[in-house]
Amino acid sequence: MRKCYFLWNKRRKGLWPAALCLAAACLFLTACSGPAEEEEKKSIRIGVSLYRGDDTFINNIRSELEANAKKYEQEKGIKVTLDIQDAKGSQNTQNSQVERFISLGCDVLCINPVDRMDASVIIDKAMTAEVPVVFFNRQPVEEDMNRWDKLYYIGVDAKETAVLQGQMVVDFYKKQPSEIDLNGDGVVNYVLLEGESSHQDSLIRTEWSIKTLKNGGVPIEKITGGIANWERSQASALMEQWLGEYPDTIELVVSNNDDMALGAIDALERAGVSGVNVVGTDGTIPGIEAVESGKLLGTVSANKEIYGSAMLEIAASCALGEALPEEYPLMDGTYYWPPQEILMRPEKD
Ligand code: GAL
Repeated sequence: MRKCYFLWNKRRKGLWPAALCLAAACLFLTACSGPAEEEEKKSIRIGVSLYRGDDTFINNIRSELEANAKKYEQEKGIKVTLDIQDAKGSQNTQNSQVERFISLGCDVLCINPVDRMDASVIIDKAMTAEVPVVFFNRQPVEEDMNRWDKLYYIGVDAKETAVLQGQMVVDFYKKQPSEIDLNGDGVVNYVLLEGESSHQDSLIRTEWSIKTLKNGGVPIEKITGGIANWERSQASALMEQWLGEYPDTIELVVSNNDDMALGAIDALERAGVSGVNVVGTDGTIPGIEAVESGKLLGTVSANKEIYGSAMLEIAASCALGEALPEEYPLMDGTYYWPPQEILMRPEKD
């Protein structure tokens, strides 16, 4: 063996430089073309951060996302790992979660920002690591969204929600005015429950819901209103206070979401008051149950199946570096608005 090697070495001495160059070239090519180019990616990792894990609507979306991840795995044979974290209302916590997702090698992030005005830190980190981001439900400001072409947003169109909510009351009032104008004085006295003051949905929903009621010819008059931050318990406390301050006056409760609408219903039930109409939006599971049982006049329901599948499909395409799915057309290449529909309680005979 030694002899052979010696002979080869001696005789082919002139071939050594060429062999070394060939080996170096092979090493260089292997290093440049990552595994992604050599073989198809068979698994993806998605980092998901929720602004608050205890928010009913966000929880419904989370369940849809999980269901769609399973479906995607079965249909496409690609393993999907969802790493879902709760930011518990803290932007700092969410920023650390994003850092961790990136260090764990997530291929894409789905972020429900805590502070939609302050998405820049997340965007900086994602851009540096070249990890695309699908924001959802809490819309970052346009200036931030325009910073990179790998930033997307999915969320219901707040103006559409509000117009549908207002229209539902307009149609109901036209058919049965005495069901809303309870004392028959030609005026509908309402109270307004608003979500977080910094959330695009609260501001736009409030404005367009009331405009639609007025333009539709419902003779409304506002008694009072308040911010209950999307929360059932806060809305319940406010409503209890208003029922005390304005006894036998409130005829309609307009709420920026279902959870606060349910809080108002809790207070009405505690006070033993019946007949007051309450409208919400979201179409959460408890919201839809309340519509079906007749406690809630109606809700504007976001199609959560489509919401969840759009999130998963768009995120997965980003992760795999594929073209984005055509079923979910993006406005300006960035925004997808899932469809919504009105759900109203069954009519009384
Ligand atoms: C709104 C929704 C609320 C709450 C909020 C959280 O769109 O109507 O119920 O989930 O988002 O950002």
